[in-house]
Amino acid sequence: MDPKKRIVVLVSGRGSNLQALIEAEKKDYFPGTIALVISDNPDAYALSRAERADIPTCVLDYSTFNSKKEYEAELLKILLGESPDLICLAGYMRIVGKKIIHHFPYRILNIHPSLLPAFPGLEAQKQAVEYGVKISGCTVHLVDEGMDSGPIVLQAACSVWDTDDSQSLADRILEYEHQLYPKAVKLFLEEKLKIVGRKVIREG
Ligand code: GRF
Repeated sequence: MDPKKRIVVLVSGRGSNLQALIEAEKKDYFPGTIALVISDNPDAYALSRAERADIPTCVLDYSTFNSKKEYEAELLKILLGESPDLICLAGYMRIVGKKIIHHFPYRILNIHPSLLPAFPGLEAQKQAVEYGVKISGCTVHLVDEGMDSGPIVLQAACSVWDTDDSQSLADRILEYEHQLYPKAVKLFLEEKLKIVGRKVIREG
């Protein structure tokens, strides 16, 4: 029996964080295997990255569903069929519905390009530049029913320079994201995280 834990990754676009997880798996950095990549967007470049790494893919084209409810029902069916130990959102552009969250309580991770709770939602790097913060970064958190509001697993900080625009800041933060996400996945799969209230405590 494969002792490796099963990870399902949900994507919508470029997939550079998926790539970071693929590279980490190749190096046996965490005790898990990416069992499936699901995209809500048939044109997501992330799908090519998965195919190149021989990871099964599944496209659930959101535009072909009559409602979010129907889309989520299909997504849930697929997720349940995969029996994942962990679901990773990696540039997945939809809010995960309550039903899925309840089926996988605190088993869904997301990466967000700001130091939460600052700048949740879309265009976090643009929000940070416009606000004028001097430090930003990225956050890996467990997914709850709110918007980027679940318990924080790890954060990494970087400087915001006066010369930054949202693109240059996004590029800088992305480098930290690619380090941070595999670390969080490792801690999760090695069962080193304990959730106490809304705090995630690292054990061991
Ligand atoms: C990343 O900045 C991630 O933090 C955010 O969406 C972006 C996805 O990038 N949730 P990629 O698809 O992983 O390259």
